[in-house]
Amino acid sequence: MFAIPLGPEGAELRPLETWHAAEFLAHVERGRDFIGTYIGFVDAVVSEDTARDLLHRYATKRAADEGYLYGIWTGCERPGGGTLVGGVLFRVFDAATGVCEIGCWLEPAGTGRGLVTRACRVLADWAFHERGMHRVEWWAAAGNTASTAVARRLGMTREAVLRESNPRGGVRHDMEGWAVLAHEWDAPKDGAPRA
Ligand SMILES: CC(C)(COP(=O)(O)OP(=O)(O)OC[C@H]1O[C@@H](n2cnc3c(N)ncnc32)[C@H](O)[C@@H]1OP(=O)(O)O)[C@@H](O)C(=O)NCCC(=O)NCCS
Repeated sequence: MFAIPLGPEGAELRPLETWHAAEFLAHVERGRDFIGTYIGFVDAVVSEDTARDLLHRYATKRAADEGYLYGIWTGCERPGGGTLVGGVLFRVFDAATGVCEIGCWLEPAGTGRGLVTRACRVLADWAFHERGMHRVEWWAAAGNTASTAVARRLGMTREAVLRESNPRGGVRHDMEGWAVLAHEWDAPKDGAPRA
């Protein structure tokens, strides 16, 4: 019902809600191996019921103002409303301290077009400008260069490395913490408007 255009290819950012369970499961099945290399939520999504459970957890977080989940759809100009290819989220949202964390994922068909970078800008704009948040964080495995490239594109600073803190796929990944502060977000970027 509510959709924010994400560029010229009929891509849209919309709330990803409990009633999307079947569509969410189909998307996870298409992207399971790629997404699951670095993030674990796909392990919990193995049926329509478990897909609904995850979406419902985020609906509960949203109701408590503690987290928000959005999907990225492409081909929205086509009949049927497009294809869910990924998402962005406030994994953590703490209005009391003004600190939140954005996360993201795409199935392979959605990559390489700037969709996540644009979607994250929408979330960060909302966090800083509408919600008065002070700090947006981003956590990524050091080897996940596609993810750290998004953090860099968002103007974030790499602040920390938690060595071998995240066991996934038989490897203990170093985790990098990135963040951007409110006054940095609004600072001009080389005189150019954000794409
Ligand atoms: C992390 C992840 C979402 C990044 O995907 P992505 O497609 O590289 O990110 P974006 O949607 O922002 O697109 C950026 C790419 O589109 C290109 N691009 C095209 N137009 C663009 C635009 N207008 N703005 C920004 N980038 C654009 C960029 O050059 C970049 O491609 P490149 O890496 O070949 O240079 C993806 O790799 C993924 O889902 N990985 C698995 C799950 C995961 O690791 N999630 C993050 C956990 S921390």
